[in-house]
Amino acid sequence: MADRDPNLSENTPRCPGPGWDDILQQDSIQPPAFMSEDQYQYLGSDPIDAKRFYDPAFFQLEVEKMWPNVWQFAARNEEMPDAGDYVTYENAGRSYLLVRQEDGSVKAFHNVCLHRGRKLTTDSGFADQFACPFHGFAWNTDGTLKNIPCRWDFGHLSDKKMQLPEASVGTWGGYIFVRDAAEGPSLEEYLAPLPEHFKQWRHEDCVTVAWVGKVVKANWKITMEAFMESYHAYVTHPQLMPFTGDANAAYNILGDHVNVNYTPFGTISPHVNANGKSEQWIVDEFVKYNGRSSDNYDPDKDQYNVHVPEGKSARLALGEAMREASTRAFGGDYSKVSESELLDALVYNIFPNTAPWGGFMPNIVYRWRPWPDADHCLMEVRVIARVPEGKPHPRSVPMHLLSDSETWADAPELGVLGAVVDQDMTNMELTHEGLKCSKNGNVELGDYQEIRIRHFHQTLDKYINA
Ligand code: FES
Ligand SMILES: [Fe+2]
Repeated sequence: MADRDPNLSENTPRCPGPGWDDILQQDSIQPPAFMSEDQYQYLGSDPIDAKRFYDPAFFQLEVEKMWPNVWQFAARNEEMPDAGDYVTYENAGRSYLLVRQEDGSVKAFHNVCLHRGRKLTTDSGFADQFACPFHGFAWNTDGTLKNIPCRWDFGHLSDKKMQLPEASVGTWGGYIFVRDAAEGPSLEEYLAPLPEHFKQWRHEDCVTVAWVGKVVKANWKITMEAFMESYHAYVTHPQLMPFTGDANAAYNILGDHVNVNYTPFGTISPHVNANGKSEQWIVDEFVKYNGRSSDNYDPDKDQYNVHVPEGKSARLALGEAMREASTRAFGGDYSKVSESELLDALVYNIFPNTAPWGGFMPNIVYRWRPWPDADHCLMEVRVIARVPEGKPHPRSVPMHLLSDSETWADAPELGVLGAVVDQDMTNMELTHEGLKCSKNGNVELGDYQEIRIRHFHQTLDKYINA
């Protein structure tokens, strides 16, 4: 671009000072090799059109061209473990009824009665048939027709014709995905290389232990994009800076549908003046404000119990503490696990609207959906935790839907994470409103730290232009 700053390279923009790789090299145990591979790609610097976030015509393009053709995270196994368990999943003008079959597989039906069109279900639960509450048309859990009251009146409706139409279903890592379209890449192809990365983190061994949702007055993409970069952290979440290498984070493009942000914890932010700050201070701030470390809090003494031995770094001391805490909490041997996989924010995004965290700690999983229009979304935050080996998988907790007047901090199951998400929420509605009255109609992105947002929009364009 003509007006580009000639001193700033477009190919390797990076925060001066130690990078992600340098931080990993100081660790006592290295993570899998893919975590240190630089897979950044420069994807251009043009602004994103603000209309994409509020224009009903653009929203309609998403509804018609994108949503039916993508794999959507619809449920976790632990929401519907047994035959007859069902989940109602709705998004973008469609309603799906996911049902666990006798053989353990899952079918997803279009959740619409084939008589006069009432939705069959609106909840999740167990059923041995799906009988429409309007006139009683009933289906078996495998989608075959069971009964039509006064069948004599419907001689024109054969059993075959009345089979509930199905959507595609794919499963990975305890997640159940649906796709409206019959044709397209398999879930394995779509997710690559994410399943390879999660091989050791095994989300199939985890269950949902906390699940909170809230309707946000902002476009689903505005809300999601606030969780795709660490760049906002030093202004929006200042309390995290003592222990967050926000500007040291790595951003990688892994495939059309997958990208990742690795943000190191246990290391002081380049935005903070480190003079006079001890390693113990970094640790103390971490255990206070990092939502994933409450195991180290001793309520009796009201103190945090990670001590940094003389000469050791905060990050190494925290890694050590996390290894012990993980063994206590989940059993198993964590002695060979890297600092990074126990501490860091390893935030993957699966196009278009799901973000599972990697690593061994209880993992956050985000999902965003338009709810139901361009101006509102449902944001969900789950925490999935490892079930100790050999123990039965408990069922998922139900979603705790916050009311308009409640904040994320009103959900005690999120711990200190709730307050962090509330800080993010202070930006959502005002960004949505701001874009609607933007003078130049442009959204500008950093070449590096916001590359995942650009990548998202480029993949979205592939669907919209297909
Ligand atoms: S609409 Fe379902 S039975 Fe009539
Ligand atoms: Fe944030």
